[in-house]
Amino acid sequence: MERGREAGRLEALAEMSNAEPTQQWTSAVRVLGGEPDLRELDPAKFYEGIETLGLKDELEGWHFDKKVFEEVVAKAKPRVIIEVGTWKGAGAIRMANLAPNARVYCVDIWRDEESIERQKSPLAPTLYKQFLHNMVRVGLEKRVVPVALTSSHAFRMLRNKKVTADLIYIDADHDFRSAYSDISMWWQLLNRGGVMFGDDANQAGVAGAVLRFISEEALPCRFAENQHWVIEKP
Ligand SMILES: C[S@@+](CC[C@H](N)C(=O)[O-])C[C@H]1O[C@@H](n2cnc3c(N)ncnc32)[C@H](O)[C@@H]1O
Repeated sequence: MERGREAGRLEALAEMSNAEPTQQWTSAVRVLGGEPDLRELDPAKFYEGIETLGLKDELEGWHFDKKVFEEVVAKAKPRVIIEVGTWKGAGAIRMANLAPNARVYCVDIWRDEESIERQKSPLAPTLYKQFLHNMVRVGLEKRVVPVALTSSHAFRMLRNKKVTADLIYIDADHDFRSAYSDISMWWQLLNRGGVMFGDDANQAGVAGAVLRFISEEALPCRFAENQHWVIEKP
C-alpha cells in the first residue's frame, strides 16, 4: 500500500481512540474498509461483478443434508432466516431452498484460515468471494444477504436495523463461551413461535452452552440426529 494512504489510515485510527465506542466501531470499519453495505439491506448490492471472476464451484459443508432442516423450516415457516457461521453457504442454500419465500442473512467473518495455500496467491478466491459465487450459481443472490462481520457486531447491526427472524441457525465458534454468547445474544432476535437450532451438539463446548441456556430459560430442547439441537421460542 502506498505510504500516504497508510499514514491517512493510521491517523484516522488514532483519532478514533477518543471517540465513543459505537463511533469507534463505525470509524474502524470505514477506515479498514470492512463494513458491508447494508443501508438498504438489499442483497443485490453484494454480488456485483462476482460472476466475472470465473471462480470454480466449491461447495462442501457440514451436516447440511440432515432431516432436521426440513423439520425446523416446517415448524418455523420462516420469512426471515439468520445463519450465524456460514462458510461456503451449504447450510444457507439448504434452508433457502426449503423456504423459498424467505430472506436469509448469512453472518460470517469469512476468514481464509482453512488453507494457507488459498491465502498465498493474490489471485486465489477468498472464502467470501467463494460464498458469493456459490449463491449466484444456485440463483439465491436476490434472497441471501451476506453480513461479513463478527457474530457480535452482526448482532448489533441487525438489531439496530430492527431485523428479527423466524429461524436462526447457530454454527460459528464451538467453544463454550462463544456458543453460549451466540445462543443467548441471537435469541433476542428470534420471533415468538420461531425456532433456533444449531450444529455440533456432540461437542462439549456446544453441549455445555445449550444446557446452560435452556436451564436458565427453563426451556425444552430437542436433540436430533446426534448433532443438532433445537429450541422453540414460546
Ligand atoms: C462450521 S463453519 C459453518 C458451516 C455452515 N453453517 C455450513 O452449513 O456449511 C463455521 C463458520 O463460522 C465462522 N465463524 C466462527 N466464529 C465466528 C464469529 N465469531 N463471527 C462470525 N463468524 C464466525 C467461521 O468463519 C466459519 O466459516
